[in-house]
Amino acid sequence: MSSRLPQHFQANALSAELDALREAGVSWSDLTVSNPTRCGFDYPAEAIRAALSGPEVLQYSADPAGSLCARTAIAGWHGHGVQPEDLVLTASTSEAYSWLFKLLGDPGDELLVPSPSYPLFEWLARLEGLQATAVPAYFADRWHLDLGMLEARCGPRTRAVVVVNPNNPTGHFLSRDEWAELTAFCARRALTLIVDEVFADYALEPAPDYLPTAFEDRNPPCPVFVLSGLSKVAALPQIKLGWIAARGAKASALLEPLTFIADQFLSASASAQAATPALLEMAPSLQVGIRVRLNTNLAVLDAMLAAYPHLSRLPVEGGWSVLLRRPALDSDEACALRLLRECKVFVQPGHYFDLPSDSFLVLSLLTPQTVFMEGLAKILPRI
Ligand SMILES: Cc1ncc(COP(=O)(O)O)c(C=O)c1O
Repeated sequence: MSSRLPQHFQANALSAELDALREAGVSWSDLTVSNPTRCGFDYPAEAIRAALSGPEVLQYSADPAGSLCARTAIAGWHGHGVQPEDLVLTASTSEAYSWLFKLLGDPGDELLVPSPSYPLFEWLARLEGLQATAVPAYFADRWHLDLGMLEARCGPRTRAVVVVNPNNPTGHFLSRDEWAELTAFCARRALTLIVDEVFADYALEPAPDYLPTAFEDRNPPCPVFVLSGLSKVAALPQIKLGWIAARGAKASALLEPLTFIADQFLSASASAQAATPALLEMAPSLQVGIRVRLNTNLAVLDAMLAAYPHLSRLPVEGGWSVLLRRPALDSDEACALRLLRECKVFVQPGHYFDLPSDSFLVLSLLTPQTVFMEGLAKILPRI
């Protein structure tokens, strides 16, 4: 077996406890649910089925970058001068990362990745023979990119920087100043910048100077690739359609080799591509329902936290998660395990996302409202 893979696949303590509950037929409230199709949203089922059953789904016309029709719709969705020829379609954002990592690095090369963040980069990088080096952000009233740390962690084999805008689960949107400094840094060190914007449509409490999208910069000084997909944009992860957008002349120059990689896989299905224009038309109304849920749960949390002065939450600039801050009287994992065993409520410990210290639990704001409220009522007195 390849040394790029984990050396064991043992469940951690929380997963083992969930398995034990499942086996015993005991149910629990899941305050971590991030799959929108399991959150009680009202999807236009007939329209989605119709979008997936047009005449194009009976034809195979392989275009390595993805169908022009889907790319035209995605370019229109983003605006900001994005053109269909700037786009390469994938089956998911995760796949988009793996193609970009193939494009940019040789085995042994390094990538700078955000921390705390979604715990995906290390393995996606390792599977491509690359090493992901974490660049810790810090929190002081809001999250900040640590440019000194970026410099310090950048070595001779660093090829690219990954940022998530807004980040998951911290919700950190880059500020416009951070964007300018980050792109200048990448240009100076000849690095490519990968910007994951899957949650960009979900700004909740953004700072006034936030960067809503990297597409605002029409001509960045370094190559920029922006990632997104239907899993968050249209809350349809099961469709399996993501995309990579090249921004600026330096990234466009890499589109031919990127398309060569895409040509080896031809991943995006005919049905997903054919449905994309119609699904993007539905996206704004699906997003309204999601934003209502996120804001309502945040208001519920604030109201309930008022009775627990030792607990607080960090601002949610954007995204689907909130960080609950608590006194670190035990480890965050021990706390999550205790809440699962004693209250039958599942929350994630912050260290799953590399949050510093044991002071954070991560909750999903996508959780159905009654489950969220009842779950909080059980756990808040015991955190
Ligand atoms: C920041 C971030 N990027 C990418 C993904 C994966 O998206 P996809 O379903 O398109 O692979 C996730 C999933 O939650 C995510 O949180």
